[in-house]
Order: sequence, then structure tokens, then C-alpha cells
Amino acid sequence: MKTIPFLATLGLMIAVTACASDGGAIDELNMGLSKASVFDTPTPSASAYSDGKPGYNDPLPRAWDEAPPQVPHRIDEFLPVTAADNQCLDCHDVPKYIDKPKNMDRSKKSKSPMPEGHYASSEMDDLDGARFNCTQCHVPQSNAAPLVESTYR
Ligand code: HEC
Ligand code: HEC
Repeated sequence: MKTIPFLATLGLMIAVTACASDGGAIDELNMGLSKASVFDTPTPSASAYSDGKPGYNDPLPRAWDEAPPQVPHRIDEFLPVTAADNQCLDCHDVPKYIDKPKNMDRSKKSKSPMPEGHYASSEMDDLDGARFNCTQCHVPQSNAAPLVESTYR
């Protein structure tokens, strides 16, 4: 007869659960990262992306060496990026400027050529298909205040 041990175990589990929840209910203001009541509809402060046109912005700091650089200029006019229509390439597919001094001929295109590793071969005449979706790795930053401070170094 296996019912008795089963019922005993079930009883024990219920007892343990009852004891565990005995520590007091969680306050409605402390249920998540947002320290607002779950019954409120908070209005987060507005944030915005850079409206700087390409060619007029300083590079943003990288999270670590060789991290994909963040995009310092606005990109809304160039989206969506698709395999058939990629406007990022209009300015960044300029292999002749790789390793050249930036802005050597004042052309916007000379400022930020994408690196050799983004091409399918060392001829650099064809984008590596795995790289077509630029915004998978390169994103602009909004000025929203972080919800939680990052201590990552
Ligand atoms: C009209 C030309 C142009 C277009 C289109 C363009 N960019 Fe740029 N991009 C630039 C220039 C110029 C810079 C150098 C920073 C500046 O002056 O804004 C730059 C900077 C960058 C950087 C930073 C590079 C670094 O070394 O820090 C990234 C990443 C980038 N762009 C990604 C993109 C992506 C992704 C798209 C498409 C959604 C795009 N760009 C479309 C011209 C362009
Ligand atoms: C899978 C991720 C990934 C994708 C997709 C990608 N990149 Fe990058 N990109 C990187 C990384 C990582 C670096 C930094 C390489 C380094 O510093 O050695 C980089 C560097 C760059 C740079 C800076 C070059 C420099 O010398 O400072 C530009 C510009 C750039 N990418 C443009 C693009 C464009 C345009 C596309 C789309 C056609 C694209 N990337 C797609 C990961 C990616």
C-alpha cells in the first residue's frame, strides 16, 4: 500500500510550504526593480536618441577592447536594415579607407570604414553574409537613466 507514505510526504510538503511563507508578505513596493506600487501606472521620464547626423559626432566609448562600437549618430533614417537594402553600407563599405588617417579627405565615408573582418574574403568586395544585420551588434544609445547602475569593469 503506497498511499500512506504518499499522503505523509504530501502533508510534510504542505507544512514546509506553510512555514516558508510565514516570513511575512512581500511589500507591494518591493516586488521588482521598479520601486513603485504594482497598482500604479508610472510614467517613465522621456528619453531620446542622438539626433546628430553622421559625420558630426565623436565616437562613443567601447565596453571593452574589440567590443562592437556603439553608433554615435542617428540611424532612424536608415532603418530597417535588410539583406536586400542596407543603407549602412553606403557609408561604411569603404575598404580603401581602412587603416588610413580618419577624415583624410573630409569625406564622411573616410571617417569610419568597417573592418576587414566584416567582408567574406580578403578581397573585401563582398560583405560577409553573417554581418548584414549591422544593428544586431551596433546600436545607438539613448539618454535614459539606467534602472540599475552597472558595476561591470
Ligand atoms: C551618411 C553616412 C552614414 C550612414 C548611412 C551610416 N553611417 Fe555610421 N558613421 C558614419 C560616420 C561619418 C561615422 C563617424 C562618427 C560621426 O561622425 O558621426 C559613423 C560612425 C559609426 C559607428 C561608430 C564607429 C566607431 O569606430 O566608433 C558605427 C558602429 C556605425 N556608424 C554604424 C552604422 C550603422 C549600423 C548604420 C546603419 C543603420 C550606419 N552607421 C549608417 C556615417 C554613416
Ligand atoms: C556579429 C556582430 C557584428 C555585425 C553583424 C556587424 N559588426 Fe561591425 N563590428 C563588430 C565588432 C566586434 C567590431 C569591432 C572590431 C574590432 O575592434 O576589432 C566592429 C567594428 C565596426 C566598425 C568600426 C571599425 C573601426 O575601425 O573602428 C564599423 C564602422 C562597423 N563595425 C560597421 C558595421 C556595419 C556597417 C555592419 C553591417 C553591414 C556591421 N558592422 C555588422 C561586430 C559586428
